Amino acid sequence: MATFPPSFLEEIRAQLPLSGLVGSRVRLIRAGREYKACCPFHNEKSPSFYVNDAKQFFHCFGCGAHGDVIGFAMRHDRLSFPEAVESLAAQAGLQMPRDTPLARESFDKEKRLFQLLESATLWFEAQLFAPTGREALTYLRGRGLSDDAIRRFRLGSAPQDAQALLRDMARQGYERDELAEVGLAKKAEDRDDFYSFFRNRVIFPVGDRRGRTVAFGARILGVGEPKYLNSPDHVLFHKGHLLYGLSRARTSLMQGQPIIVVEGYMDVIALVEGGYSGAVAPLGTALTEEQMQTLWKLAPPVESRVAGRDYSPVLCFDGDQAGLRAAARAVERALPLLTASQTLRIATMTGAKDPDELIRQSGKSAFDSLLKQAQPLSDVLWNLTLAGRTIRTPEERSSFTTALKQKTSQIKDEALRALYHEEFRRRIDTTFGWKPPSIAHKQTGWQNGWKKGQTPVAPFLGSRRSPMDGRRMMERILLALILNHPDLFDAFGESLAHLDCQTPAYEGLRQRILDALAQDALTPEELRRHLHAPEESVFQEDHEREIIDEILSPETYAHARAARPEASTEEARQAWLSVWERLAQEGIRSDYAAACAAYRADPSESNRRRMEALREKIMDFQA
Ligand code: UTP
Ligand code: MN
Repeated sequence: MATFPPSFLEEIRAQLPLSGLVGSRVRLIRAGREYKACCPFHNEKSPSFYVNDAKQFFHCFGCGAHGDVIGFAMRHDRLSFPEAVESLAAQAGLQMPRDTPLARESFDKEKRLFQLLESATLWFEAQLFAPTGREALTYLRGRGLSDDAIRRFRLGSAPQDAQALLRDMARQGYERDELAEVGLAKKAEDRDDFYSFFRNRVIFPVGDRRGRTVAFGARILGVGEPKYLNSPDHVLFHKGHLLYGLSRARTSLMQGQPIIVVEGYMDVIALVEGGYSGAVAPLGTALTEEQMQTLWKLAPPVESRVAGRDYSPVLCFDGDQAGLRAAARAVERALPLLTASQTLRIATMTGAKDPDELIRQSGKSAFDSLLKQAQPLSDVLWNLTLAGRTIRTPEERSSFTTALKQKTSQIKDEALRALYHEEFRRRIDTTFGWKPPSIAHKQTGWQNGWKKGQTPVAPFLGSRRSPMDGRRMMERILLALILNHPDLFDAFGESLAHLDCQTPAYEGLRQRILDALAQDALTPEELRRHLHAPEESVFQEDHEREIIDEILSPETYAHARAARPEASTEEARQAWLSVWERLAQEGIRSDYAAACAAYRADPSESNRRRMEALREKIMDFQA
């Protein structure tokens, strides 16, 4: 099916002027013999996208997108090549070429089954508004569906009578075997008879990528088991590949709407009615690899993505245990397939049972904020691994770390796997209170569990360029700055007063500097004289000299040239500000460490939130 005679493709191009197809998707402006438009493949305000009917191609001078009518359909409507050809051929009223008698036979058969499924859809729709469908219609309206929505989703009703559909389809010339082939009829076990598979249920037709009905979901009216029946797989329907709502969702990313994966038919309908055209649901099974691949392919090609926009599907499963399990399974399945541009986000429902309920009870804004809080897959993986564990003892931490590594090692994309390892190592380091290595004690690898020889990045100190790390060095630089540039006191006296040196020797000195400066010792010499005033014991004085020597040492100046006596006041001022900022960040880091400890002791949601919030702050000032 994937190769077509060139003459056939030529025929499509000839029959369908490019401007016609493009014009039905984008607003075109005439420009001489061509048309121009704002490019649908990248974000722009002034048109650089040109369509030339004579040459049968489009070209964007902004992003370089280029192609013919088939290329446009593929790119814009997210179709595969054969799908695009098929869809355009239909628009042009062309018969698809058939090479062999066998291909012809299966083509004709498929076409007939499509027609049968369409007829059945129409019949179910009609039943819903007929007297036999009264109960079903009342049920749907009772669930808050407008008649408009009912028609848009082509909902229907399967009556109690097990022969009604068969009779009507027979009248239209369809065999009972054909109905059985697509799961609409079943053969009785004990006698040579067929009966309708769906009875006394509300019908949800399931469309294929192009929106043609290929299957049905059928819900019981009210309570009972099974709640939903679904068509079995058949030649036109593979439930593991298709998603409910897919044909509508196909172009939603292009319109700035996210792909949202929910669990149920009713959730899709509620979301689409609420304006989320990208809502889809698997068909009564867990989300499969094929379905994820299908959804990832809906994103525009990497080169034409809008910077900063997240194209990854958001999984939004129910807030109950089953929903959590479904999310966990989806994450597991996604791991081997992850790449930089193929990932998932997960929005966790709390309170409301499912998206349908949330949006009906609390409105669209509630769902909007749920979407905004969607977590990246890495966070979810961390939380899922942590769920149900405590990580208080070394043994517990070790088994947690092992579990986490076991998960990340499933990522096949090497670069991404390395980044996941790195990210989790960092989190483990900080969550378990690991201290950044000092210059004196270089460590290699956390608990030897991570690759040896790879120098660990000190968590959040992050800077590989400057070896200046550790609070002691920062305190030392601040003291050197003030000793050599006491005039900074005017601007920074206040912050010096709040400094709180954690190095005990420095703390004593800091207080004496404060005292001296408060007494107007404003040149370095005056300051030094104050500090060496003979009111203290000789021992203390010697000790203080040593400390000052350490502070005003080449080592300090190597870390901060601006602390040298010959640096200008402005340089010193800048240096003070930058070190001060890093100290403030250190404060947040230690809050973070405390939050991590709290989370370790009690992995509750609120503790996790606090920890994540601080982590984000840290990420912010790292960026
Ligand atoms: P739910 O029970 O969450 O469905 O199952 P829902 O859409 O929220 O149902 P109601 O109508 O609001 O009560 C989620 C999906 O799982 C499949 C269906 O596809 C359903 O939409 N399912 C569920 C089945 O296939 N069979 C079942 O018996 C139940
Ligand atoms: Mn529901």
